[in-house]
Amino acid sequence: MHIHRFERFWIGVSLVAIAIFIATVVIGFSVYDLRVIGAEKTVDPQNLQETKFADPGVRKAEPGSEVDYEVYVMSRQFMFNPGTAEPITVPTDAKIRFHITSPDVLHGFEVVGTNLNTMVIPGQVATFTTRFDTPKTYGLLCNEYCGAAHHVMEGRLKVVSKSQFNEKQLVQ
Ligand code: CUA
Repeated sequence: MHIHRFERFWIGVSLVAIAIFIATVVIGFSVYDLRVIGAEKTVDPQNLQETKFADPGVRKAEPGSEVDYEVYVMSRQFMFNPGTAEPITVPTDAKIRFHITSPDVLHGFEVVGTNLNTMVIPGQVATFTTRFDTPKTYGLLCNEYCGAAHHVMEGRLKVVSKSQFNEKQLVQ
């Protein structure tokens, strides 16, 4: 069977591309320690009252923790708690770990204008750790379709300077 040389060329290109895609997955998992969401980060979405999500908000991290503050956020139809009714307030120059879950359906949690962006899946706890250098108020957006009022599901993340941050507002 005769295969035209252009066709042979493009078959070669696609095989190389497939090899590169497989290599990125293998290297990502072995060298860069990427993980899919694991069982250690699951919660029962029907029983969140037994977890820290029952009292969401910003907490001081446990002594000896690798971060300074832990933020628990519930994404639900159609609000972030906290975030929508009142902003999530965090200080600059601190290591902050976010924990986000949903009691109902799939949502998103995006800090607009940053690369902080995660899916929020019922039963799973999405986490990321970050640090803000300058005071600024960011928008929060849900970027997964979650129902009739998805398009109005938004909130605020307020980063204030370390000296203005009031630890009395922390969740105990
Ligand atoms: Cu929540 Cu879209």
